[in-house]
This record gives sequence, structure tokens and C-alpha cells, in this order.
Amino acid sequence: VLDIRKLYGQAGVFTYDPGFTSTASCDSTITYIDGDQGELWYRGYPIEQLAAKSNYLETCYLLLYGELPNPAQMADFDARVTRHTMVHEQMHNFYRGFRRDAHPMATMVGVVGAMSAFYHDSVDINDPVQREVASIRLIAKMPTIAAMAYKYSIGQPFVYPDNELDYASNFLKMCFSVPAEKYTVNPALAKAMDRIMMLHADHEQNASTSTVRLAGSSGANPFACIAAGIACLWGPAHGGANQAALEMLRQIGSVDRIPEYIAKAKDKNDPFKLMGFGHRVYKNFDPRAKVMKESADEVLDLLGFHNNPTLQVAKELEKIALEDPYFIEKKLYPNVDFYSGIILEAMGFPTSMFTPIFAISRTVGWIAQWKEMIADPQNKIGRPRQLYVGADRRDYVDLKSR
Ligand code: ACO
Repeated sequence: VLDIRKLYGQAGVFTYDPGFTSTASCDSTITYIDGDQGELWYRGYPIEQLAAKSNYLETCYLLLYGELPNPAQMADFDARVTRHTMVHEQMHNFYRGFRRDAHPMATMVGVVGAMSAFYHDSVDINDPVQREVASIRLIAKMPTIAAMAYKYSIGQPFVYPDNELDYASNFLKMCFSVPAEKYTVNPALAKAMDRIMMLHADHEQNASTSTVRLAGSSGANPFACIAAGIACLWGPAHGGANQAALEMLRQIGSVDRIPEYIAKAKDKNDPFKLMGFGHRVYKNFDPRAKVMKESADEVLDLLGFHNNPTLQVAKELEKIALEDPYFIEKKLYPNVDFYSGIILEAMGFPTSMFTPIFAISRTVGWIAQWKEMIADPQNKIGRPRQLYVGADRRDYVDLKSR
């Protein structure tokens, strides 16, 4: 290992923190997490209260503007979001350039990134009016973009937004209705979807939010920044975990096979991890998982899935893992992704749509954080340093002499 002082000089303090486990990259007034107590607050309001009493659009307002809206503010915000639910008709051609079996997340990264080529009047980050329009456009269009990616992947016609419906109902309709058949949104399922969205709306400086902030710190336009966030979210250690968790539960298949998978998860020589378990910050429990678990029970009861084998495996796996010394010692608890996949599957979504639904929900958090960063006078380009451990200085040798 080289002498760091020789490379970097003596000036300032140089910290080495892989994975940024103990480095704050910003100050923020948006979301608070206490990992030991299992607390999550949006602008000071506990997530349990919001999940019980608020709705997704109201939560969006809270995250964006810092306070709960009064009725007039709520009506205005609702109208502004609703006005922007359609995507530019030309964007349909963009979808048609993808393979029909493309993963909806792949399509979304491309389509959202391409929004900066369609909405030129909202890419100037120095203009607060343009920033606001871009924010509303992204929140309003994300369900339409995700539903279109889904419809394209299953070969069905795109379904236009229905502005008579609320945010979650509209999304369900765009995914599940077909022109040939009458479709009515089940209000209980719309409520469950709305709650999933609320629980995922923000989570301070997680990997995708940090990606959005880092991209934004260079002055990149909001659509490019959110596309970067979507790309990061896709990874199985982050938002992709809800898809991976359900696939794992299906793979386990029956309760009697759980011990085999627990043993794999504990084996240091096996890269397998229990998907939907563990969290960088929550070391007691994930408060979102508690609400999600109750919601899963409600939805499965409603849809008559009492004996759903996946849910049975999930519940038993949770029980066994929580009593196992390995999981206790390492403070590994089910996270939000453990139960969300079960609800989404019961609603009829394929696993490939789980992470896009997370992306829709998290868009408001990404935007709130991006806006906070842009408005911060201390904002400067994010530029982590490194600890160089490569070769020492050496001289080039001609090809024929090597
Ligand atoms: N199954 C088995 N062992 C685990 C698991 C798991 N799910 N998660 C962590 N561990 C073990 C690690 O192997 C490690 O063991 P060691 O101390 O012997 O090396 C120890 O617990 C600490 O884990 P780290 O990976 O170092 O913790 P980190 O904070 O870096 O990772 C993470 C957190 C990425 C969430 C991890 O727990 C994981 O990969 N979980 C599965 C994927 C998942 O569910 N992701 C969703 C996260 S929540 C979200 O994005 C909404």
C-alpha cells in the first residue's frame, strides 16, 4: 500500500468510508429515519400516521412543499398533477423502438431520460418556474410511462389516463383495462396501491436518491437526473429487491424447504442472501414493513387468497428467521420489499412491474431532494475522492519490447 500522505498531501482531513456508511452528504429537512427505533418521518410526520390518514398525492405535496396542504392548496395541486398525466403522443414511437419483451425498468430509464428531448420548456434548472413544471410533469406522467411500458411488454394497446380517477386508481386502470372490456377499479385495491406509494415516497439519502443528487449536482436537467435514479433503483440490493424477494419465495415453494434456504443465507461461502431482509439503516425493524404486512393480509383476504402458498412461505420464513441467532445477531429484519411483492402479485402484477411501481412512488422523493439541493446556496458538484492502491509511478515500455 502506498503512502497516502505522499499522494494526497497533508492538507485537510481525508476520510475513507466505502458504501458511505457514516458519511452525511448533505443536510436535509425532508425525511428523518431513526434506524434503532424503527422511526420514519416525512417532514416530521410519522409514516404510520400518514399511511393511516393521508393519501399519496397529499404526501407528495407534503414532501415537496414542507407542510400539509389546506383544502384549496390540495385542490390546486391535484388539478396541476391531473392536467399533466398524458405523455406526448410522439413518445409512443419511442416505445416502439424497444424489443417487445424489454423489462419495463429498461424502457422507463430510456423514456424518462428522453423526456428532456420532448419538454424543452422545463429543463432550465436555474428557473424556479421550469423546475416546478418539470416536477409536476414527472409526478403526473410516471404512472402513465410505467403502465405504457407494461402494456407494450405484453402486446396490448396503450391505455390513456382517465383524469376522473385518483392517482392510484388511474394507474391500475392504465395497467389492467383493455379497450374491448369494461373495467372498474376496485376501491380497496386502489387504496392498497395508494398506501404502497406513500410508504415508498421518500427514504432520505438511499442509493437512488444519492444518485439523483449526484447527477443533479453537475447541473444535469431533472429528467436526466430521475432517469439516473431509476437506473440505480433497479439493482436487486435496492428497489429490485421486491422482484427478487417474490422470486425467492416462489423458488422456496413450500414451508418444508425454508431451512435449506436459511442455511444458504447463513453460509459465508454462498453469495445467496434472503431477499427482502436487512437494511443499511433499520437495525430494529422497518416501520414500512409493519404497515405493508397488515396491508398484505387485508388485500389477500379481500381477494380470497387466504391459502396463498407464497404468503404462507413468507410468513413462516419471517418467523424462522426472526428466531435464528444469525439474523438476531446481525439485526436482519424484513424490509418494505418483503411484503410489497405479495400484495402486487395478488393484484395481478407480474414481478417485472414491482420495481417500476417503486420508481413511480419514489419519484416525488427524488424530486423533493433534487429541488432542495438546487435551492441550497452551499450546493456544489459532488465529487468523492478515492484511496488509490494501484501501481506506483512507472515508465511506458514499447509494445515490441514487452
Ligand atoms: N441475508 C443473509 N445475510 C445478510 C442479509 C440477508 N438478506 N443482509 C445482510 N446479511 C449479512 C451480510 O452477509 C453481512 O454479514 P457479515 O457481517 O458476516 O459480513 C451482515 O449481514 C451485514 O450486511 P451488509 O451487507 O454488510 O449490510 P449492508 O448495510 O451493506 O446491506 C442490504 C444492506 C443491501 C439491504 C443487505 O441487507 C441486503 O443485500 N439485503 C437483501 C436485499 C434487500 O432486501 N434489499 C432491499 C433493501 S430496502 C430497499 O431498498 C427499499
